[in-house]
Amino acid sequence: MRVLVTGGAGYIGSHTVHELVREDHHVVVYDNLSKGHKSAVPAGVKFVKGDIRDQELLAQVLKENEIETVVHFAADSLVGESMQQPAKYYHNNVVATLALLDTMRECAVNKIVFSSTAAVYGEPEQWPITEDMPTCPTNVYGRTKLIIEGILADFAMAYGLKYVSLRYFNAAGAHIEGLTGEDHNPETHLVPLILKTALGQREAISIYGTDYSTPDGTCIRDYIHVTDLAAAHVLALKHLVHGGECRVYNLGSQAGFSVREVIDKAKEITGVDFAVREDERRAGDPAVLVASSARIKAELGWKPVWSQLNQIISSAWAWHRKN
Ligand code: UFG
Repeated sequence: MRVLVTGGAGYIGSHTVHELVREDHHVVVYDNLSKGHKSAVPAGVKFVKGDIRDQELLAQVLKENEIETVVHFAADSLVGESMQQPAKYYHNNVVATLALLDTMRECAVNKIVFSSTAAVYGEPEQWPITEDMPTCPTNVYGRTKLIIEGILADFAMAYGLKYVSLRYFNAAGAHIEGLTGEDHNPETHLVPLILKTALGQREAISIYGTDYSTPDGTCIRDYIHVTDLAAAHVLALKHLVHGGECRVYNLGSQAGFSVREVIDKAKEITGVDFAVREDERRAGDPAVLVASSARIKAELGWKPVWSQLNQIISSAWAWHRKN
């Protein structure tokens, strides 16, 4: 396959690029490096520094490399930040994706795998969440991704676009051989913040809210290893290249862990009894998000391999200690 990966220097993007390279696909990474790291792109992979809103450059790259399909990661993805800076999210996610889709149309590239999110569901009434449950985001980030899913469906109907939208639950962990890992700046995600605390780079880990209606009062999330997510992108690309229909899939492990449970597991794995502080709730956080991934397992044969909580934390811990 000849694949353009927007945001391929980022966390989930770079893990996906590694998986594509492992299978010998022709990959071009297109990333403006606003958050990604060029060093996360494997050696030998063509890298173009560019913004998806630069339609001239993007068109040139699509044509020159005879790209067949796009995997679109480039986006802002922080729930908390999206509540404080909605304009940034509507511009960088919705407007920029529209520019990408227009350029793809101009270049007759009609297949895309899109990074969506569990945040499209909001506060679901039942778990595990299936793809046909109502979507009602509680935060701006989730709303931007749901808007794009609507645009994809409309473009499919009117212009014959073929897409797979992957709704990620909580991506975590690092490449099993340590080739890449999670490195956001600033870091806001639970697992890396816990590990930075265990490394003594932070004084304490804060728990955002202890009064949720969950057994221990802290939010429950479905943590999925980033390499399992990456593998799902490769399957989705193959599905499209082989003429498959437009699909929406959840990607989770179907196991929920509370913030306290993740902290306890990290203490066990790292052997460090770091400090924990109870804090206020963070705006936009739903109490529980746990996925059913039955659909992608049945239709594309996806099987999470690395997504036990101890595998996630151990791989992330190995990477954080080295980097
Ligand atoms: N949390 C803390 N303390 C922290 C950081 C996080 O208690 O220092 C809590 C959060 O409140 C939340 C849980 O840990 O309950 C997980 O938080 P993350 O920030 O790690 O992840 P989110 O659930 O907010 O969001 C992530 C991705 C989103 C995606 C979502 C899907 O960042 O892009 O998972 O579930 F939409």
